Amino acid sequence: MTRALVTGATAGIGLSFARALAARGDDVVLLARDEQRLEQLATELRGAHGVQADVVVADLTTADGLAAAEAALASSTAPVDLLVNNAGASLAGWFGTTDVADEDRQLDLLVRAPMHLMDTAIKSMVGRGRGQVVNVASVAAFTPRGTYSAHKAWLVNLSQWADWHYASSGVRVMVLCPGFVRTEFHQRADMDISGVPRWMWLNSDKLVAAALADLERGRTVSIPSLRYKVLATLARHAPTSLVARAAKRGR
Ligand SMILES: NC(=O)c1ccc[n+]([C@@H]2O[C@H](COP(=O)([O-])OP(=O)(O)OC[C@H]3O[C@@H](n4cnc5c(N)ncnc54)[C@H](OP(=O)(O)O)[C@@H]3O)[C@@H](O)[C@H]2O)c1
Repeated sequence: MTRALVTGATAGIGLSFARALAARGDDVVLLARDEQRLEQLATELRGAHGVQADVVVADLTTADGLAAAEAALASSTAPVDLLVNNAGASLAGWFGTTDVADEDRQLDLLVRAPMHLMDTAIKSMVGRGRGQVVNVASVAAFTPRGTYSAHKAWLVNLSQWADWHYASSGVRVMVLCPGFVRTEFHQRADMDISGVPRWMWLNSDKLVAAALADLERGRTVSIPSLRYKVLATLARHAPTSLVARAAKRGR
């Protein structure tokens, strides 16, 4: 029996993770800020799959929200076997034009929160000799394009090290690097995505199915779809100026 905690479970990629994990029989802990959406989802998953579905209402950019998430992860009576560090958002403007207080909140959500949750999860999982963490980064991690990419690059780097370092303790860490996925993400940030060609868009449920298959295979870095595997490889080897120009659209 697996118990999985998914952050950002009310929409997009997190919602797909919650549904896929419950469908395979995992108990789930659903975390986000919108209590009504969380309760609706918990009711749906209990009814459809007969799993236990608990709700944690938390804003991960606040001390109280982080503490609530950490408490759920540190529970010894209901231990979490799989953490999906997924909650995220982006700013529409480029660094240097945005309000630095908004940059602080983005840093808290994309770096500080996953770091704290990973820290709590790893400590608890190492003690039990088993566990898995999926960190949701982005293919943007491989392109130079402002703070969002830098935060995701940080998450890729830490995940790669943690997977290598903790594998012998029975704890695996996989970083998921999606390309463009149809979710609420771009709309929430009021981003102009009109220039993104249709072939670049991924389906969230298919993305999560591919990610869970990669987790099963023991991959450290998961880049679903052949097109994004190719683009990520090119981005890692092409000149910075070329990659930065090509990656200027959307997130
Ligand atoms: N969509 C893409 O093209 C794409 C591509 C690459 C990577 N990603 C990454 O994938 C992850 C999920 O994004 P998505 O596309 O699924 O976005 P989404 O549809 O906008 O969903 C974001 C989720 O995060 C939660 N969330 C946002 N701020 C939060 C906060 N302060 N505290 C707690 N929960 C918070 C939201 O729930 P509430 O509003 O209820 O709190 C929601 O459940 C993010 O890390 C994102 O960077 C997305």
